[in-house]
Amino acid sequence: MPRALVTGGAGFIGSHLVDALLAAGWQVRVLDNLATGRREQVPDEAEFFEGNVGDSQLAQQACQAVDVVFHLAARVSVRDSFDFMVEHNTTNVTGTLVMLKAAAAAGVTRFVLASSMAVYADAEPGTANAESHPTRPLSPYGISKLAAEEFVLLAAPAFGVEPVVLRFFNTYGPRQAFSPYVGVVTIFITRLLQGLPCTIYGEGEQCRDFVHVSDVVRACLAAGHESAAVGQCINVGSGRGTTVNELAMLIAKAVVTTPNFTHGPEQSGELRNSVADLTRARQLLKYAPAAVLEERLAQLVAEFRLR
Ligand SMILES: NC(=O)c1ccc[n+]([C@@H]2O[C@H](COP(=O)([O-])OP(=O)(O)OC[C@H]3O[C@@H](n4cnc5c(N)ncnc54)[C@H](O)[C@@H]3O)[C@@H](O)[C@H]2O)c1
Repeated sequence: MPRALVTGGAGFIGSHLVDALLAAGWQVRVLDNLATGRREQVPDEAEFFEGNVGDSQLAQQACQAVDVVFHLAARVSVRDSFDFMVEHNTTNVTGTLVMLKAAAAAGVTRFVLASSMAVYADAEPGTANAESHPTRPLSPYGISKLAAEEFVLLAAPAFGVEPVVLRFFNTYGPRQAFSPYVGVVTIFITRLLQGLPCTIYGEGEQCRDFVHVSDVVRACLAAGHESAAVGQCINVGSGRGTTVNELAMLIAKAVVTTPNFTHGPEQSGELRNSVADLTRARQLLKYAPAAVLEERLAQLVAEFRLR
C-alpha cells in the first residue's frame, strides 16, 4: 500500500486529495495547523498531525515511511499577502524547505508541490499561458510560490527526491472556506444566496481559468506516479477562459436571482489574463479536465443551499 503525506490536507483542495488517495488505496497522513483548514474535513482513516510545516521535528515525524509528499499547506491569499509578506515567506518558502529536507531525510521518493498561476507575468488577452510564459509575479504570494518552486526543483534532485511542480489555476468546488479575500466563486455564491450585493473589482473583464477541484485532484494523483512529470512545472486548469463578468452572470443564473453586482477599484496583484495552456499536462500527466463550469456551479449552489 503506497503511503502519502498531504500537508494542508484539512484545507479545501487538500481534503479532496486525501479522500481520493484513500479511495485509491493509499495510506494517508495529514499535516495541517488548521489555520484555514478544518479538522472535520480529515477522514478518520487518515492519520492527523496538527502543527506547522515549519516545525522540522514534526515534519520529520510526519514524513517517516512516506512514499510521496503532496505539499499543499500554504498561506493562499494574493490580496492579504501585501500586508503579511513575512508570514507568506515563512509559511510558503521556509515551510516548503523544512518539508523538503524532512522528506529527503526520511527517504521520500517524490515531492509534489502545489504552486499557482500567480507565478506568471500578465498575458495578452485571448492567449493561454504555457509553462514557458515568463514568470514575474505581481504579488508577494506569487513571489513566495515561485521561490518555493525554484528551491524544490533545484534542491530535491540533489537530495535524491523526485520533484513535481503543479501550477493550479483558480480552483473552485465544495469545502472552500469563505473569506473575503480568496475564491471568487465561493464569495459570489455565498453573498448572492444571502441576498447581498457582490463587488467585481475593476471592469470585470479580467479573464480567469476556473478549474473544478475534482480535476485538480486527478492531476495531483497523476503527479504522484507519472515518471514523465519528474522535474517539471505543469499547469493544472480547465483550459477555458471566463471573465469575472461572465462568471457573475453564470452564478446569478445558477442561484436564480437578479444579478446584484457593483464595481469596485482594481486590486493590486491580480492578473488581467490568466488561462492555462494544458499541452504539457495532457502529455505528462495524461490530464483531461472533465468538469463543465455551468454544471458544477449549479451543483455547488445546490450544495450551498443545503448548508
Ligand atoms: N484555491 C486555489 O484557487 C489555488 C490556486 C492556486 C494554487 N493553490 C494552492 O493550492 C494549495 C491549497 O490551497 P487551498 O485553496 O486548498 O487553500 P486552503 O487555505 O483551504 O488550504 C491550505 C491549508 O494549509 C494549512 N496551513 C496553512 N499554513 C500552514 C502551516 N504553516 N502549517 C501547516 N498547515 C498550514 C491550512 O490550515 C489549510 O488547511 C496551496 O498551496 C495554494 O497556494 C490554490
